[in-house]
Amino acid sequence: MCGIVGYCGYRDCSDVLVEALTKLEYRGYDSAGIAVFEDGNIRVEKSQGRLDNLRNKMLSDGKPEGTTGIGHTRWATHGKPSDVNSHPHSGEKVAIVHNGIIENYKELKDLLIEKGQKFLSDTDTEVVAKLLGFYYKKSPMNPLETIKNTVARLEGSYALGIVFEDFPDMIYAARKESPLIVGVGKDEFFIASDVTAIINYTKDYYLIEHGEIVEISKDGVNIYDEHGDKKVKTLLTADWDAEAAKKGGYPHFMIKEIHEQPDSINTTIRPRISNGMPNLEECQITLDKIKDFKKIFIVACGTAMHAGMVGKYVIEKLARVPVVVDIASEFRYREPIVEEGDLVIIISQSGETADSLAALRLSKELGAKTLGIVNAKGSSIAREADMLIYTHAGPEIAVASTKAYIVQLSVMYLFAFELALAKGKITEEECCTLTQHLELTPSIIHRILSENLSMPQFVATKLAAADSLLYIGRGLDYALSMEGSLKLKEISYIHSEAYAAGELKHGTISLITDNMPVIAVATQEKLLEKTISNIKEVKARGAMVILVAREDFKIDHEAYDYLITVPKIDDVLMPIPAAVPLQLIAYYAAVQRGNDVDKPRNLAKSVTVE
Ligand code: AGP
Repeated sequence: MCGIVGYCGYRDCSDVLVEALTKLEYRGYDSAGIAVFEDGNIRVEKSQGRLDNLRNKMLSDGKPEGTTGIGHTRWATHGKPSDVNSHPHSGEKVAIVHNGIIENYKELKDLLIEKGQKFLSDTDTEVVAKLLGFYYKKSPMNPLETIKNTVARLEGSYALGIVFEDFPDMIYAARKESPLIVGVGKDEFFIASDVTAIINYTKDYYLIEHGEIVEISKDGVNIYDEHGDKKVKTLLTADWDAEAAKKGGYPHFMIKEIHEQPDSINTTIRPRISNGMPNLEECQITLDKIKDFKKIFIVACGTAMHAGMVGKYVIEKLARVPVVVDIASEFRYREPIVEEGDLVIIISQSGETADSLAALRLSKELGAKTLGIVNAKGSSIAREADMLIYTHAGPEIAVASTKAYIVQLSVMYLFAFELALAKGKITEEECCTLTQHLELTPSIIHRILSENLSMPQFVATKLAAADSLLYIGRGLDYALSMEGSLKLKEISYIHSEAYAAGELKHGTISLITDNMPVIAVATQEKLLEKTISNIKEVKARGAMVILVAREDFKIDHEAYDYLITVPKIDDVLMPIPAAVPLQLIAYYAAVQRGNDVDKPRNLAKSVTVE
């Protein structure tokens, strides 16, 4: 959570830091702050709330003038959002920004208090700042030794940006678990939680690994391992540009990203299809390598887990391999029965989600093979999984995931087709037909986005005043409903639940009144009659029903109040196009309610804490 940034160069550092923080606000927006060398002294400016509060504060106080400094945007973990808990935090002759959690902060804090240290905030980060100050006293004028001694005492996760008062043209950084990159420009250098923050200045960067310590001056970058030995690292180049991280004329990133979905699918699947068949060889996946898996786990969080739910239905249907879908935070602590010979698929947009990463590591320990489906290049999950399929959604800025979900689905399909073929459950011809249908999904989404926007928009006006609603569906429609419901909840703040339509009458139907709208998803031909019966049951009890259904289905008008149609494609692939109206309903409902669509309250995009 939290975003950190640092700059060392020739530009106005305050401007660079604030601009970079704008790109990192998706990681948290409880407070923002910067520390800049001004006339040889560290000047800190920070403020609770959105980055705009900091901007306004600096407009009235005057911004720090200098060319070297660090910045932070916070998602509160230790201590409530407040000015005093905002980063940067200071120790003697040092100021720091931090992303991560220091698990042993209490014990360290007690030790430091015993030694006479005074604390201003409730944060774990201030403990690191004070500890740095403490060790700096022991190794004066030696920042590297100080950092080495300090991080040796820390348990937990951190990406730290550090400035020492005695070294006004330098910034330092250290990483364990939490993501960190070093951007390399011409006569200027950056640190950041991800490349998005600095893409306006440079596309070249080093990926900092666990245990590494970074020292940056105007003249260059030195990277050291945990023993203090210099490392030579490969310079990487981001494969997208600054435009990709801008709104491009759309009012919100979320709607822009919804519109990018056709391209994202194309970019993701095209390189993995040859001669009309899935080809995942570049991802180290061959028929031979996957044919013997007897059990599959899909482990992820939130939206990524919902992509896994769709994956389960598809893999089980086509490849006849049992699939267990697990929430990563549950999986890691429930002593899962994972063994050698099993495959564990970890899905993650950021590739840094703490629980998903821990699930991956646990699965490897238990002897399973792991497959990462990851969007963020070079992220921890991408680097640690045995096999890896990158999704090519590009940067997803809106906290609510849309295009990352859609490409996760598209990859789940490719994998399911390949597995079904490897298992001999479908013929090459069937595999080819399914792949062709998958290739049609971008144009179908395109059609929905150019012709079918008005109905979701209208329906959203009907929902905007609701306190609570239900999503219902069967089979793949149920799996998709889970994502529809999460999307609505997280950005519109309307409570909703997804229910298997057939399960309603076992209790939940008692909630149905004319105050409880129902969004029903019906795209599966074989299940249509049964789903319609369930829809009629809620309609008969007063619910306003919004039906999302395949456009060729003949459905009794009395079964629904509003109908949103989705172009027909093979049933198994329907979740891809049908996801779009659900995303749009959530988006327009949030807009109607005047919410901050891209940065919903209490959330952060990358959840790097448990
Ligand atoms: C989606 O809209 C969410 N904000 C959230 O559920 C997200 O999908 C989840 O935190 C997992 O993130 P990851 O894909 O980066 O691992």
